[in-house]
Amino acid sequence: MQTNVSIADGIHMIGVNDRRTALFENIWPIPHGVSYNSYVIVDEKCAMLDTIEFGSEGAYMERVETILGGRTLDYLIVNHMEPDHSGEIETVLRRYPNVKLVANAQTRKIMSGYFGDVSANFLEVKDGDCISLGKHTLYFYLTPWVHWPETMMTYEASEKILFSADAFGTFGTLDGAMTDDVADLTTYESEMRRYYSNIVGKYGGMVQKALAKLSGLEVKTLCPLHGPVWRRQAGDVIALYDKWSRCEADEDVVIIYASMYNNTAHMADHIAMRLAEQGIRNVKVYDVSKTHLSYLISEIWRCRYVILGSCAYNGTMFPLMEMLCNSIKHYGLKNRSLGLFASYSFNGGGMRALSKFAEDCAWEMIAEPVEVCGRATEENLAKFVPMADAIAERIKANRTK
Ligand code: FEO
Repeated sequence: MQTNVSIADGIHMIGVNDRRTALFENIWPIPHGVSYNSYVIVDEKCAMLDTIEFGSEGAYMERVETILGGRTLDYLIVNHMEPDHSGEIETVLRRYPNVKLVANAQTRKIMSGYFGDVSANFLEVKDGDCISLGKHTLYFYLTPWVHWPETMMTYEASEKILFSADAFGTFGTLDGAMTDDVADLTTYESEMRRYYSNIVGKYGGMVQKALAKLSGLEVKTLCPLHGPVWRRQAGDVIALYDKWSRCEADEDVVIIYASMYNNTAHMADHIAMRLAEQGIRNVKVYDVSKTHLSYLISEIWRCRYVILGSCAYNGTMFPLMEMLCNSIKHYGLKNRSLGLFASYSFNGGGMRALSKFAEDCAWEMIAEPVEVCGRATEENLAKFVPMADAIAERIKANRTK
């Protein structure tokens, strides 16, 4: 795709769709693709803000040249050095050898690892510094760890546009709509949360610091490096980031189980049915072997109540459940209420490992864990009632607050 969309007077978006890549960062499935966004400002001086992944769009530089209309590029603002955005910096340098690479000291260190000595082109900026292009003035705000340590955001003062790097970005291509004038947040919210939780979520505290730093700015338009430009729903998108980075959740339930021969699956369904009988509607059940980890992490980010169940496997929990638990600990997600269950055939070990996870992540245990040998009998299934009912009661109580 080649697009050139005018965001404001003299400010252009080049959004490049990637529907070929199966795994973003070679780990996260992107069935709906992803876009890499780059921006160009034409003024007395001309500036580009970030590039795209190398080779993702063969006509990228032609598009830039068309926007510049024969002018040279004076500045390339590097808000984020991850290669999905810095992949064409060397191409830009070859085309415009006098361009100034505008970035902070931390960026320079990372950049030298990729491109060698760039001192001749480098223009270092500090937090709060600005550059005037003519009508447009760009202010730079360091927002480390959203999502790499060098990440910064650039605020264009006349149009009140925040070029926000990875922040407020989402998986999913730009399917005709480049801005949210004709794209709805509801379409993107799930994939935005999956992007946030898996890629930025570990740094929630730094996201909160960034939001606090930027809170004094009037922002009318968000220009992230992935997904649509947000203006109509910019406030809603910022509110979502605030919520997710505070680890706040919906009063919903996610049950995730690991099961080899359906015994644990049967228990998961039983808990879900008991919740439904108690009038709880928003319950989702997942098989850890079937659904990619990134979706499970995103669901756990969404739901206050998390129930994990595992069969025993070689004296511990099922390997994919262990991977999920390790990821949860890695992200440091807080403020969830936990229910645990496990099944075994001889020595067990699933519950022992799940209990250790619960201890490590320090989530509230909502009820006593349930461990069952073999197939769950009616008598065994009755043991799940206190867990389901405790969650149902909590949700109903919170609804009435
Ligand atoms: Fe979209 Fe951190 O790169």
